[in-house]
Formats: sequence, C-alpha cells, structure tokens
Amino acid sequence: MQQKRELPIGLFDSGVGGLTVFKAIADLMPNEHLIYLGDTARVPYGTKSPETIVRYTQMAASALIELGIKMLVIACNTATSAALPILRAAFAPMPVIGVVEPGARAAVAASKNGRIAVIGTEATINGMAYQRAIQAIHPQAKVTARACTLFVPLAEEGWVSGSVPLGVAQKYLGDIFDSAALDARPDTLLLGCTHFPLLLEVLRETTGPDVSIVDSASATAVDVARKLEELDMTRTDASRPRKLFLTTDNLERFRATGGMFLGSDMRSEQVELVDLCRSKQ
Ligand code: DGL
Repeated sequence: MQQKRELPIGLFDSGVGGLTVFKAIADLMPNEHLIYLGDTARVPYGTKSPETIVRYTQMAASALIELGIKMLVIACNTATSAALPILRAAFAPMPVIGVVEPGARAAVAASKNGRIAVIGTEATINGMAYQRAIQAIHPQAKVTARACTLFVPLAEEGWVSGSVPLGVAQKYLGDIFDSAALDARPDTLLLGCTHFPLLLEVLRETTGPDVSIVDSASATAVDVARKLEELDMTRTDASRPRKLFLTTDNLERFRATGGMFLGSDMRSEQVELVDLCRSKQ
C-alpha cells in the first residue's frame, strides 16, 4: 500500500487565483506531489451566496479527496471564509488548511500602526472572516474592509496594468489611502483574494510606496509545511514530484491565464478536465 506521506497535497480555488498559493507551496516544499483544482466553469464564487459557495466548495473538496490526497488546502479566501469549519467537520480526519488565518497573521506582523485595510470579494468581506481573524490576533487593530469585485475578472482576463485597472483600483481604494487623511491611513494592505496579487503594480500606485502590501500565499505555505511535519507526513521519497492541474472548463484558457498566476509557462504541464457534477459526494 502506498504510504500516506507519499500522497499529493490537494489545493483548490474557484479559478486560477489559487495558483499563487500553489506556487508558494511548490517553492517551499519542492519534493511534494501537488494536485490543483480550479473550478473555472463556475468562477467567480465571490458574488455567490454563502450556501452556493459551500456547495461548490464541498464538490471540489470531494473530487480531490476521491483522487487520494494527504492534505487539503483551500487556496481561495471566499471558500475559506464560507466553508472552512464545514469542510473540516465533513472530511475529518483529513487536515484542511485555509488561507484566511495565515493572511491575517501576515498582515498583523507587517503593520506598525495597527491600521489594516483588507480587500477581497463581496462574499469574503460581507462574511467578516478577515475582520474577525485580524481582531482575534490583534484586538486593538483598526480594520477597514472593502469588496473589490471587479479585480477578479480583471485578473482572470490578464488585464492587470494600465489605465483601466488603475482607475478601478483608485475608485475602490483612493479614499482609504488618500494622503489628506494621513493619520487615519492604514500602513498595511492585505490582499484577501488569491486573484489580487496579480494587480500588485496598480495597487502599489494607489497606496503609495509606504504601505506594506501582503497576501496569504507564503504564510499559508509555511502553515502547510508545519502541519505536515507535525503529522509526520512530509514526503521522503526521492523520485521526481508530480504536478497535476485539473480544471472544470476550457483547458486552453486555464493554461494561458494560469501561467500568469504561476509565474511560468504552463504549456508543458499536465492539465486535465474534470466534471465535478460527476464525481461522488
Ligand atoms: N480567488 C478567490 C478568493 O481568493 C475569489 C475569486 C472568486 O470570486 O471566485 O477569494
């Protein structure tokens, strides 16, 4: 029987955004087998109701677990906010790691004045998961939260620089980082959506150079490594690790946009279509 430690880590997101987390995990743990599932047929999750997000999330998680994984990483803030405790209960003892708590920790560590702006999808911001997670770590923190819905299609489209995304960023965030309100200004911007790191350039132009911009990808990777060690499940075999990408729609588009999130060409990667409605639940 295959040893549990040799199984892959499974990650999923509503689309290609979670590849930013995939990359952080692959960089930190290059010997691990990884399977990534992007539910591109149903992206965006961020404008859907919590019930729908939970249902989609359960389907994606079930599909990965059926394939045989040793750990599940919800590489999506929207899905983590809506469904983390539900997935942990439903799939126990499978270790399930989300991106919200690591992101909150990274933001609190980066902030000197305790004023943190967090941006995410409508569902993430309305669900208050980040506001709660930051306050749990730093009760005096002043959190300004804002939904930035249009950033998701802009990132999926690869339209991440120039006057259009910059105008959108300024419309969403200009008042928060307005220099006239210097004393009330957050010193940290937390990207509470795995799609948003792609818009770093226009976000930087909007915040100005003195604001720390953080996301949850590397903090999540550290949590994954720690959990694997704690459970004695780090892969030890020296054979070449496998990387498999699953998408629920439009394979070629996944390869093209996925490459931007992964930071490398996906043409030679193994990408397969999966139908979540067919996999058992
Ligand atoms: N990437 C997802 C997140 O981190 C959001 C994208 C969507 O709306 O589906 O929240």
